[in-house]
Amino acid sequence: MGHVIGVIPASGGVGASTIAAVLAVRAAETGQPVVAVDLDRFGGRLDVVLGVEQEPGWRWDRLRRVAGVVDGAGLARELPRAGAVAVLAGASRVVGAERADPGKGPAMDWRRVLPDVVAGLAAAHRITVLDLPRDVIVVDAVAPLLDAWVTVVGTTVPQLASAATSVPLLRRLVDAACARSGDVLRRPCEPWLVLRGARIEDEVADAVCDHLDAPVLGRLRDDLRLVSDVTGGVAPGSRGRGPAVEVADELLLRLVSRPPLDLAASADPATGGRAASEGPATGAGSADGWRWSA
Ligand SMILES: Nc1ncnc2c1ncn2[C@@H]1O[C@H](COP(=O)(O)OP(=O)(O)OP(=O)(O)O)[C@@H](O)[C@H]1O
Ligand SMILES: [Mg+2]
Repeated sequence: MGHVIGVIPASGGVGASTIAAVLAVRAAETGQPVVAVDLDRFGGRLDVVLGVEQEPGWRWDRLRRVAGVVDGAGLARELPRAGAVAVLAGASRVVGAERADPGKGPAMDWRRVLPDVVAGLAAAHRITVLDLPRDVIVVDAVAPLLDAWVTVVGTTVPQLASAATSVPLLRRLVDAACARSGDVLRRPCEPWLVLRGARIEDEVADAVCDHLDAPVLGRLRDDLRLVSDVTGGVAPGSRGRGPAVEVADELLLRLVSRPPLDLAASADPATGGRAASEGPATGAGSADGWRWSA
């Protein structure tokens, strides 16, 4: 079982999908299997951010009939790739279970399908990056599968005010979902904060850390190169340098330094628990072979 990291914006448009893409691109630099999953059912379009929207391969719509944990390796073979990163994205044409699409069969039941798809992919990949929306249904469905979740916090006054509301709410949601999954071995899953803005003063970083009671692990300056890469269909992070790459590398090192949990005993596919574990926790050694050139 690999590591699962989720990225979620504390308020809209702060660059969460972009940093999710950079995380996946940088993780894949090691040559180990990596998948990036767009969970924004209202049209996050991580495929566009990674420049694979024109590539053939499966999108979410192909998975509406999933029942039970998927074969993640088999699914990954059907997905488009941004370099070495398998990408599961594409806006679903129907939202939740509210409306059926007569031409395409039944609507996708995200609550049921998401945990099965993510657990299957996580079992087959060293790192699974989830691009998470601020959507209660989605966060609730996948929270028990997360090793770490990154919240991107904008640093304008309205963005900070929004984060002061959204981050505690998200934290409660994640904690409640994990508690419901019956995963008694789960360690506390605190948010890792990444600040995003034109200039990020130390006082702002300290205040955010204090107020949200969570570590600030990265500061993401405005980066026009990143924007022009995405506009030009170049996967962000693929140039191997820049502020987003530095932040992603730091997050990845922390992620792989954490021992993966053996969750087999408490897994409950019905509630999104992990379906299988591939051996005991390996401690800090799990970071072996993972190097980034930040
Ligand atoms: N570091 C950055 N510097 C400048 N612009 C950025 C940076 N990161 C992302 N952007 C730009 O900001 C916009 C929003 O980015 P993105 O879609 O990643 O945000 P998001 O937080 O995922 O938004 P949403 O709330 O819609 O999910 C995009 O145009 C993107 O290119
Ligand atoms: Mg997004």
